[in-house]
Amino acid sequence: MVTLNINGKNVQLDATAEMPLLWALRDVANLTGTKYSCGMALCGACTIHLDGQPVHSCVTPISASAGKKITTVEAMAESKAVQKPGAISTSCNAATVNPAR
Ligand code: FES
Repeated sequence: MVTLNINGKNVQLDATAEMPLLWALRDVANLTGTKYSCGMALCGACTIHLDGQPVHSCVTPISASAGKKITTVEAMAESKAVQKPGAISTSCNAATVNPAR
């Protein structure tokens, strides 16, 4: 049994210290917003924040989160930091690439 601070709440989970955070969050805590893809710290689909720093939860054991605050996409979605898609500007000032060159 481990105690984690997830999205501002202390939660007890039936998991071992060696278990990757990804599986603790998805399979034990039922927070499925964190996704699995490569499983090798390459793609970022499993990114969570530990004390505000992004980490790949697929390769981060539960033991690395001891005493730290875990923030998942579920908490970010509830905060004002994430805007609704319609609120994001669709204009683009990027230079175009000439495929003929
Ligand atoms: S699943 Fe791709 S970086 Fe973790």
